[in-house]
Amino acid sequence: MAHHSSSHDGTPSRENWGSRVGFIMAAAGSAVGLGNIWKFPYTAGESGGGAFVLIYLFFVIFIGFSVMLTEFSLGRKTGRAAVGAFKSVDKRWSFTGVIGVLSGLLIMGFYPVVGGWALAYIFKVGGGLLNEPSAIGATFDGFITNPLEPLYWMAAYLLVNLLVVAKGISGGIEKAGKVLMPMLFFILIIIAVKGLTLPGSGKGLEFLFSPDFSKVNGEVVLAALGQAFFSLSLGMGCMITYGSYLKKKENLVQNTAIVTGMDTAVALLAGIAMFPAMFAFSMEPAAGPGLVFVVVPQLFAEMTGGMIFALIFFIGLTVAALTSSVSLLEVVVAYLIDEKQLSRPKAVIAAGSVMVLLCIMASLSLGGVGPTLFDTGLFDIFDLLTDKIFLAIGGMFICIFAGWKLSKQELKQEITNDGEISFPLFNLWYGLVKYVIPVAVAIVAIGGILSGFDSGKGPIMILGISIIALLALLSKKL
Ligand code: TRP
Repeated sequence: MAHHSSSHDGTPSRENWGSRVGFIMAAAGSAVGLGNIWKFPYTAGESGGGAFVLIYLFFVIFIGFSVMLTEFSLGRKTGRAAVGAFKSVDKRWSFTGVIGVLSGLLIMGFYPVVGGWALAYIFKVGGGLLNEPSAIGATFDGFITNPLEPLYWMAAYLLVNLLVVAKGISGGIEKAGKVLMPMLFFILIIIAVKGLTLPGSGKGLEFLFSPDFSKVNGEVVLAALGQAFFSLSLGMGCMITYGSYLKKKENLVQNTAIVTGMDTAVALLAGIAMFPAMFAFSMEPAAGPGLVFVVVPQLFAEMTGGMIFALIFFIGLTVAALTSSVSLLEVVVAYLIDEKQLSRPKAVIAAGSVMVLLCIMASLSLGGVGPTLFDTGLFDIFDLLTDKIFLAIGGMFICIFAGWKLSKQELKQEITNDGEISFPLFNLWYGLVKYVIPVAVAIVAIGGILSGFDSGKGPIMILGISIIALLALLSKKL
C-alpha cells in the first residue's frame, strides 16, 4: 500500500517546501557547513594549496553541478527519498540508496563531534579564551583529546539536530535555514576583509590561488573530488531527498546553479578569511583539523574588539554545521519512515541512538582511546570511508543509474518541466552524466587508492570499496 508510485502532479501526501526561497535556503544550508569552513581550508592547507583549489573548482563545475542536478531530478521525479527513488525504478539499484543511508550514518558519526567543538568554542571565546593568545593552540589540543568534555558538547549539538528533524521538513529545517544562512554570509565577509588588511596577508592569497602542480598526486586529486562531493552534499541521496519535497514547477537548473554557486563562494570566502591571516601571523598552512579553531581565535586575539568577531564567527559556524547535519540526519530518518514504516519520532530516536554511539567512539579516538584499524582511529576511518570512497562512488552510481536506467526523454521532461524551461546545455549534461562522470570518478578513485597505499590509507579505502560491493550483492534484500 505504501508503494504507490507517485503521480505526475506529486502525491498529495508528500510534504512540500513552503516556498522557493525556503527550498534554496535549506539546500544551500545543507551544502554550506563544516565542509566549507572547517574542512576546505585545512584540506587545502594539507594538500598544498593552489593546485588543490583549482582541481576542486574544476570538479565542482564539471561534476558537482551535474550530479546535483541529477539528484534533484531523481528526487522530484520519483517523489521518494534516497532508497525509494532507486527502488521505485529498479529494485536491484536500491544499494545505491543504501550506500547513501550508510554514508549519512557514518558522516553523522563524526560531524556532531566537530559541531560540538564549534558550539563549545562559542562558550570558550566568551569565557576568555582570547586573553592568552599563546595558549590557544594547546587549549584546542587539550580540549579535543580530553575524553569527557567534548562529549557533552557533542551530545548537546546532536540533541538540537534530533529536535529540528523531529519537527518535520517545512516546520523545522526551513525556518532555521531562512534566518541563519544570510547571517553567516555576512560574518564571513567581515572576517575576510579583516584578514586581508593585515600586513603580509598577500602570501596567503598566493598560497591559496597560485597552483604548484608538483604537489599533486592521486591522493590530492581524490581529496579534491571528495571535497567537492562532501561540500555540495552530493553522492548520498541527500539532494534526492530534498528534491523529493520540491514542487513540480520549480526550475531545477536554476536552483542547482544557485546552490552550487553559494556553496563554492562560502568555501572560497572561508579560505580567504583564513590563509592571509595565517601567513600574516607566520602559522603553518598544514595545521590540520584544528586550523579554524586555532587560527581564528589567534587572529582575533590580536585585534581590538576581536572577541565580538570571534563570538559571531563560532555562532555562525555552529549554525552552518546545524543546517548541514540536519540534512544528513533527514536522509537516514526519511529512509526509516519511507522504507521501514517507522513514525517520524521513532525514526529520529532510532537514528539518533546509533549516531550518538558512533560519535562517542569517534570523539574518544582523538584522545587515542578505543579501537583502531590499520593504525587509524574511528574519527579518521569514518571520514576516509565517506569522504574518499562512499560519496564519490555513490555519485558515480547515481549518474550511471540516471544515464542508463532512465530514458533521455524522461530526464529531459523532468529537467525542463515538460518543455516549459529551456536548458540549452541538456545534451552536455546528459553526456557528462551518462559517460564522462562515471569514468572520471572511477579513474580518480583508483588513482587515489593506489597513492593512498603510500600514506597508509589504502587498506581502509579498499575496505570501503568492499562494503559497497557487498551492498550491491545484497541489493535484492535491502
Ligand atoms: N555539505 C555539508 C558540509 O559541507 C555536509 C553535508 C550535509 C553532506 N549533507 C551531506 C555531505 C550529504 C555529504 C552528503 O558541511
